[in-house]
Amino acid sequence: MERKNKIEDEISFSELLKNPIRLFGWIYPYILVLMIVVGIFYVKNLTNLTYNAQPVGIVDSTLIKKDIPMKKGGIMPAVDLTLIKSPTPEFLEKGKELYKANCSSCHGENGMGDGAASAGLNPKPRNFHILDGWTNGPTFDMMYKTLQEGIIKNGMAAYEYLSPQDRLAMIEHIRSFAKYPEIIEEQIVSTDQTYNLSQGIVLANQIPVKKAEELILSENSEILAKTDNAIKIVANDTTKTAKMLREYANNLKKVFSSYSANKSFSDMNYYIEEVTKSPIGLGFKGRVVNLSNEEWQLMYGYIKNALN
Ligand code: HEC
Repeated sequence: MERKNKIEDEISFSELLKNPIRLFGWIYPYILVLMIVVGIFYVKNLTNLTYNAQPVGIVDSTLIKKDIPMKKGGIMPAVDLTLIKSPTPEFLEKGKELYKANCSSCHGENGMGDGAASAGLNPKPRNFHILDGWTNGPTFDMMYKTLQEGIIKNGMAAYEYLSPQDRLAMIEHIRSFAKYPEIIEEQIVSTDQTYNLSQGIVLANQIPVKKAEELILSENSEILAKTDNAIKIVANDTTKTAKMLREYANNLKKVFSSYSANKSFSDMNYYIEEVTKSPIGLGFKGRVVNLSNEEWQLMYGYIKNALN
């Protein structure tokens, strides 16, 4: 009986609260066990925790699903200059849409210079209702110049990648915000002369990146043959080094072709340095940077031999 009372005293919470230091005695063993478990986990995984074992967040840019299309070069459509002086309703509507999509983030939907992205800008984006104090000026030719070249130092980007006709449509829309100076024939002529508006702009041929890559490789058929041969060697080899190479390579073709294409890679340390800087670009997975020196030596020697 006496004993039972003793145990009850021991775990009586009111007693514990009176003397909180005893609480520690109760909790201590649990904390100790927890610390030991965490400690063991840490030591066991030390290598992974201390190395930068995060998957490297670079994606092989040649694996992109959407390549640029094959396009015959041509001419950016010539601008119908008559639209400038007498814009059609469709042209004005188009200008409004383009303005909304490209410019309103800074200049504001109503041209007050109060778009969401204007907050951090100094100078502020132009308020198109006020025609004083412009950098290039609110005349037609100056506005075209602004869109072609931007005012980079003040945070106004160049929009030379939009077609000239689209740029004219946006200028028309901006002009609807206030009473802008009339467009005079001379400004149209000089803008046309400077930027060839009525002749259109010549665009170069364009081929998909994949196709370009193939072309470059096939131009160098010796490298191609060696590369194919080396890939076969690795694929059929059961040695540890071959396995390691297969495991760490993202694209064996790239590993071998980039190695043979660059003479400076005959220096092992330089090669390792370059792979570490740009693993994906040279055909490896990002985690190749975790390899030790010895592993690198084996793998480097293997790559070199497979190509001979
Ligand atoms: C990133 C924000 C930003 C965007 C987007 C932007 N602008 Fe601007 N824009 C500016 C800033 C800032 C200025 C003021 C430049 C200055 O004071 O020199 C400016 C000035 C201008 C001016 C007046 C130039 C002058 O002579 O002072 C025109 C015209 C203009 N922008 C047109 C446009 C058009 C058209 C678009 C859309 C295609 C556009 N901007 C998109 C920031 C922007």
